Amino acid sequence: MYLTREEERIYNGELGWANQVCIKILVRLGELFNATKLVPISSAHVSGVSYKTLGDAPIEFLETLVNDKAKVNVEATLNPQSFDKKYIRKKLPQNLRKKQSCGVECFEKMGFTPSLTCTPYYLKKQKKNAHLAWAESSAVVYANSVIEAWTNREGGPSALAAAIIGKTPNYGMHIAENRQPKVLVKLETELKSETEFGALGIFLGKVLEDKIPVIQGLQNASKDNLKQLGAAMASTGMVNMFYYKTNTVKDRIETLNVEAKDIQQTIENLSDALKQEPDLIFIGCPHCSLAEIKQIAGLIQNGKVKKETECWICTSKHIKQRARKYVEKIEQTGAHVITDTCAVVTWTDKLGIKTIMTNSAKTAHYAPTMNNAETMLAPLKECLKTAFRG
Ligand code: F3S
Repeated sequence: MYLTREEERIYNGELGWANQVCIKILVRLGELFNATKLVPISSAHVSGVSYKTLGDAPIEFLETLVNDKAKVNVEATLNPQSFDKKYIRKKLPQNLRKKQSCGVECFEKMGFTPSLTCTPYYLKKQKKNAHLAWAESSAVVYANSVIEAWTNREGGPSALAAAIIGKTPNYGMHIAENRQPKVLVKLETELKSETEFGALGIFLGKVLEDKIPVIQGLQNASKDNLKQLGAAMASTGMVNMFYYKTNTVKDRIETLNVEAKDIQQTIENLSDALKQEPDLIFIGCPHCSLAEIKQIAGLIQNGKVKKETECWICTSKHIKQRARKYVEKIEQTGAHVITDTCAVVTWTDKLGIKTIMTNSAKTAHYAPTMNNAETMLAPLKECLKTAFRG
């Protein structure tokens, strides 16, 4: 792999141990995937920030980087942690709170913005064709497909290293020829809700392997629905992008028909709860956009959330701030608009939550293993109706 003189100096340790470790991570990764050089990035986004998924060893590594005065070289953001300051934090044991805060403080000392959201694209607009090093899989698919920026699906350590160096190896999605579609998906049903978009993503993730699809019939899909599709697709598969603006493909490529029964079957498979009443209704995976918060405020009218049910609407601090008047209306009902975390990356089982109802196919896919919870997958309107019934 070609390194500039400056990169060689970093590699040889002339700019300190932390920089040397980070560039070595990037070069090793580049060599594994036949990259020819490092390319500058305009943003890095690190996942694996929640102590629930992180564990102790990575925190020790972060502390060592901080002690060696590691600093980010580009705009760098963080995925959700395991609690918010206002509501969930108080319910968790002190040792978990302490460990989590220690991890995030390390990131902050290195210059990361404590955005604590999986939707960094709402914080700052990324440019088309910009090279990024993002690690949150839902954000990766959104960046490549909707923003048309270029990013691989980074792991936590490689996104961290890219943030410190300000560069990433040029392989995979950073190469134009690797972004060509390989499968034409013919959608033979109209998707009626965000849940059905998510179910399509779960279905495609399983069958596409790593082949990029062109999906027919989505030209008018909202960005929020595309967000659900991409997040779900990345949960079950390795595809990092899809095309949706065109019905035509230049070359003859394989075709995949998706029928209504595929979508319905997927939704049924993701709804395994035996109970009729969920302990938690969770909206906001990925974190809600301003439009979604507004929609929720419009749907809930002036009802009250049932006493025995938790209702969480998760978003970023940035969106919550912008959506103040809608947030106020939502919180008057007893629902919680929660930032910095989500149901999947916090310990819902420690809060006594055994059944989660959600409109997110990604959450329904992960909750049985990540939360030890049974799931009910249904569109937003139905979720809210359940929260407010009676
Ligand atoms: Fe975000 Fe949590 Fe879903 S991090 S994508 S809301 S699992």
